[in-house]
Amino acid sequence: MQKPITVQEALASTAPRDNAIVQGWVRTRRDAKTFSFLEVNDGSCLRNLQVIAPSTLGNYSEVQHIITGASVSVRGRLVASQGQGQKWELSAEEVTIVGPSDAAYPLQKKGHTPEFLREIAHIRPRSNLFGAVFRMRSRLAFAVHRFFNERGFVYLHAPIITGSDCEGAGEMFRVTTLDPAAPPKTPEGSVDYSKDFFGRPTYLTVSGQLEAEAFACALSKVYTFGPTFRAENSNTSRHASEFWMIEPEMAFCDLAGDMDLAEEFVKALIREARTGGADDLELFAKFVDKELLARLDFVLERPFQRVSYTEAVKLLVDSGRTFEHPVAYGTNLQSEHERYLTETVFKCPVTVYNYPKEIKPFYMRLNDDEKTVTAMDVLVPGIGEIVGGSQREERPDVLEASIKRHGLDPRDYGWYMDLRRWGTVPHAGFGLGFERMLMFATGVSNIRDVIPFARTPGNAAF
Ligand code: 4AD
Ligand code: MG
Repeated sequence: MQKPITVQEALASTAPRDNAIVQGWVRTRRDAKTFSFLEVNDGSCLRNLQVIAPSTLGNYSEVQHIITGASVSVRGRLVASQGQGQKWELSAEEVTIVGPSDAAYPLQKKGHTPEFLREIAHIRPRSNLFGAVFRMRSRLAFAVHRFFNERGFVYLHAPIITGSDCEGAGEMFRVTTLDPAAPPKTPEGSVDYSKDFFGRPTYLTVSGQLEAEAFACALSKVYTFGPTFRAENSNTSRHASEFWMIEPEMAFCDLAGDMDLAEEFVKALIREARTGGADDLELFAKFVDKELLARLDFVLERPFQRVSYTEAVKLLVDSGRTFEHPVAYGTNLQSEHERYLTETVFKCPVTVYNYPKEIKPFYMRLNDDEKTVTAMDVLVPGIGEIVGGSQREERPDVLEASIKRHGLDPRDYGWYMDLRRWGTVPHAGFGLGFERMLMFATGVSNIRDVIPFARTPGNAAF
């Protein structure tokens, strides 16, 4: 049997071909006098292939009943199109209805709201917008690996189930096989997790960083790219409970080197978004965000601004602007502050560094001022924080003090302390939120619309 070709291959043909087989889902069908037009899409590209099914087909009466959403396999001649809007069309010699549809098919030609489409997350990839978003997601995922591979980084699979709370924020999902109705108890009456599956409390990972540090202290330059989980009750357009993060970690690297890599990485992904998949990009620019292309170009052309946290707070205070959350030295920057800095003050991406130690996790390196740590966040217009990273505390005594200061138990971080005991090195890394990057690259404004099946507080349908 002849091997099928994709719609993309068909549309990119340079000459007519006989016996072409195309398989996909019918977007629309309409009848003319002696034939029926089918628009077929297989997700290989944004565009549909027009199929002309003549009334001479043996099953023409069935073809005339094909409904939007049905799957078909079509064999025929790929010929130059007489009609407008496409170079090639498929003149059918055989139309096989692989799977029928019916009138309840939820995706119709009229526009649907994002909220409605989230309710049919299993069908929405068949829409133009979501097809484009998820092709972009795949393209950028591939570009992530290429970026690090070209720079000699080793790809590390960090564990999904872990005993450590990397961010120390206690926002973890517990992993257990204990019966919630009758868990084993300690003599003191609390749940006895030593009887649990792993003989200890375990959680879904919030970050692969700690494990990446162990591997960086052996393979020098590593990165992770995997799912991470946060049981954080944030119902915003930028927070998901399950999201993908890319975390490079480099031995013999300081904060400046870390900021340089983050900037290079963000730009490389934007360059990829800007150059690959022209049709998809055009769709985003036309229907999602009219400023998209200008913004992507703007980011590529300029160096990111760098300001210390102290300077950033001063800029916010001196702006005279009233924020919903008041700003003062020592408070966390909220999304409104981040966006003000990047959208109004600098009008370009900004890397903010050296945050007060009180508002950052235990692993960040203490600066000589003993007040700030070597944290850095990259903020971008429209979103705010897209990257969070730091140089890590490599001095065993300072690290132990920091763990205690954060109310954590050094005994829980035994293996992590060992990395400082044997062959410690200055090292640094960061995490890029893959969905936030996709929001930036597509202009899609809600994180629920750039992840295949979103998990957010109160929602794990599908
Ligand atoms: O700033 P975060 O929490 O940093 C870490 O997890 C570090 N361990 C990274 C490292 O140094 N290796 O998260 C990093 C990035 C954020 O900048 C943001 O882009 C994304 O992950 N992120 C989220 N994305 C979607 N939903 C959430 N709930 C997110 N929380 C963080
Ligand atoms: Mg952060």
